Amino acid sequence: MKTIFSGIQPSGTITLGNYIGAMLQFVELQNDYNCYFCIVDQHAITVPQDRLELRKNIRSLAALYLAVGIDPEKATLFIQSEVPAHAQAGWMMQCISYIGELERMTQFKDKSSGKDAVSASLLTYPPLMAADILLYNTDLVPVGEDQKQHMELTRDLAERFNKKYGDVLTIPDIRIPEVGARIMSLQEPTKKMSKSDPNNKAFITPLDDPKQIVKKIKSAVTDSEGIVKFDKINKPGISNLLSIYSILGNKTISELEEMYQGKGYGDFKGDLAQVVLNVFEPIQEKYNHLMESTELDRILDEGAEKANQVASKTLKKMENAMGLGRKRR
Ligand code: TYM
Repeated sequence: MKTIFSGIQPSGTITLGNYIGAMLQFVELQNDYNCYFCIVDQHAITVPQDRLELRKNIRSLAALYLAVGIDPEKATLFIQSEVPAHAQAGWMMQCISYIGELERMTQFKDKSSGKDAVSASLLTYPPLMAADILLYNTDLVPVGEDQKQHMELTRDLAERFNKKYGDVLTIPDIRIPEVGARIMSLQEPTKKMSKSDPNNKAFITPLDDPKQIVKKIKSAVTDSEGIVKFDKINKPGISNLLSIYSILGNKTISELEEMYQGKGYGDFKGDLAQVVLNVFEPIQEKYNHLMESTELDRILDEGAEKANQVASKTLKKMENAMGLGRKRR
């Protein structure tokens, strides 16, 4: 069985974008791959976090992974900081990264632009992400489109390591969904939907109150033409809503265009809100149950143990290859 690794940051509640771009793929892939899904809390602290909020968000993300359908019998779910090999291998990856290539990462440029003080870890974020992936001999990494550049760097670093130190690391491939790889903001549809958006109407989270979800969809920015048609360039708002509807409602874009021919955006948005609620309401129910159970801690303990076993083996190989410590048999 081939291996999959992916991670989500516990910074705030995940959005519809994370759900569609990442989690939906995870649920489907867990049946056919050996999967590792990670709550990357060490990545989250590259920007300031409130400690109590962070703790809450870590637990909440773990419950959400399970609530959307990750099955701990099939996939290993764990918290990054509970597997020390990530930070150790992350350091080794930093040692083979060049400052220039890290400064070229668009996510670094976006997150650091206009800031007086930027943490060093914001720059060295991608080598840690590479370590996450490479420790599990990962074949495939399912992510949204915004992680493409980080994935290319991960592949470069793995190849560089192997060239310098011998064939130790597996070179991973990226898997981006055909539809929904980049869900856009509901308020500025040319911008990615993001949980850090200061405008809370720009994103939906699976834990939003149903009334709020309906309101956010109804107030999503579209255009004045009133024709339900997919055209990313000229009609980014309605095209984004069509993508969301298509994925969550299991209909092709052209089926939807046909269904809403001659109807206005009001009808379309009303139905889309119902489609989103049909998906999120059962998730909320499971989530609430999990947050109150002791099951969550048991699953995370087992996940950390399993991840530690695999990751520490690769770490030893990497240390031996680089000549760190003493020779071990
Ligand atoms: P993060 O936490 O920002 O996002 C988690 C996943 O959600 C996807 N995503 C989206 N997909 C579609 N539309 C959107 N608007 C949208 N917003 C986010 C992201 O592409 C991602 O797949 N660096 C990563 C976390 C990470 C990681 C890893 C991922 C750390 N180590 C190893 C994979 C493998 C990040 O910040 O994701």
